[in-house]
Amino acid sequence: MNDMTDHPDHVLRNREHWDVLAAEFVNAGERAWALSEPTWGIWSIPESEIHILPEELAGKDTIELGCGTGYVSAWLARRGANVVGIDNSAVQLATAHRLQREHGLAFPLIHGNAEKVPSADACFDLAISEYGACLWADPYRWVPEAARLLRPGGELVFLTNAFLSILCESEQENTPATDRLLRPAFGMCRVEWPGDPGVEFHLSHGDWIRLLRESGFEIEDLIEIQAPEGATTRHPYFTPEWAHQWPTEEVWKARRGRRL
Ligand SMILES: C[S@@+](CC[C@H](N)C(=O)[O-])C[C@H]1O[C@@H](n2cnc3c(N)ncnc32)[C@H](O)[C@@H]1O
Repeated sequence: MNDMTDHPDHVLRNREHWDVLAAEFVNAGERAWALSEPTWGIWSIPESEIHILPEELAGKDTIELGCGTGYVSAWLARRGANVVGIDNSAVQLATAHRLQREHGLAFPLIHGNAEKVPSADACFDLAISEYGACLWADPYRWVPEAARLLRPGGELVFLTNAFLSILCESEQENTPATDRLLRPAFGMCRVEWPGDPGVEFHLSHGDWIRLLRESGFEIEDLIEIQAPEGATTRHPYFTPEWAHQWPTEEVWKARRGRRL
């Protein structure tokens, strides 16, 4: 574990939060580890349809920022990548370690903060995050850190809540979003939901574009995920009807330029 004494309050709060939440994510982790083809997001879109991962992964040095139970890392390792996962929660990593043993697939797991990774500069070809650091860490810290970790030409891929969905998401438990904008778009970054101890981060598209470019990335794609016809989800905050009209999740793909 890296030294936590100089970490900001959101990292400490999210550590406590995820050490408690981890129990609720065990089943989802087990199901995702067992998949033969990756599926993405709350609508379980197959990789063959959405193409989130780079085509060539064999031999690629990869880091998952906020790896949780480690299933994304497992999918990458099965395709030949050399994977390292980092996560802020020891309890999430305990599940990841158990699933590694059960699936006979070992890769290094670091207990630490993805905003300050204990790895050398320019030692990865791919940095990926699925609802991990890209949602729970400060983008003004983790994005420059990802740029530091990547080799020139290396890829950054992350999947998080769509900005529009955050503007419409209800603050009431188990209440689906409507077609009303419930909060201002301007100035959004750190988000704390009433009654929820976690700290999330959400940026407008303009702010993501500026941050990625200022950190040395060229943006290659922004995939806004649409729920397919007939889709279902266990997630209570968006109905399939909503998500067929507006994006619930977005995937950013960027490439580190030759110079930082
Ligand atoms: C929804 S999980 C996503 C991870 C993975 N895709 C999964 O579902 O198991 C969010 C993870 O982000 C981790 N996390 C939050 N803040 C972090 C930080 N600053 N650095 C590294 N991991 C962080 C949490 O501990 C949690 O395991």
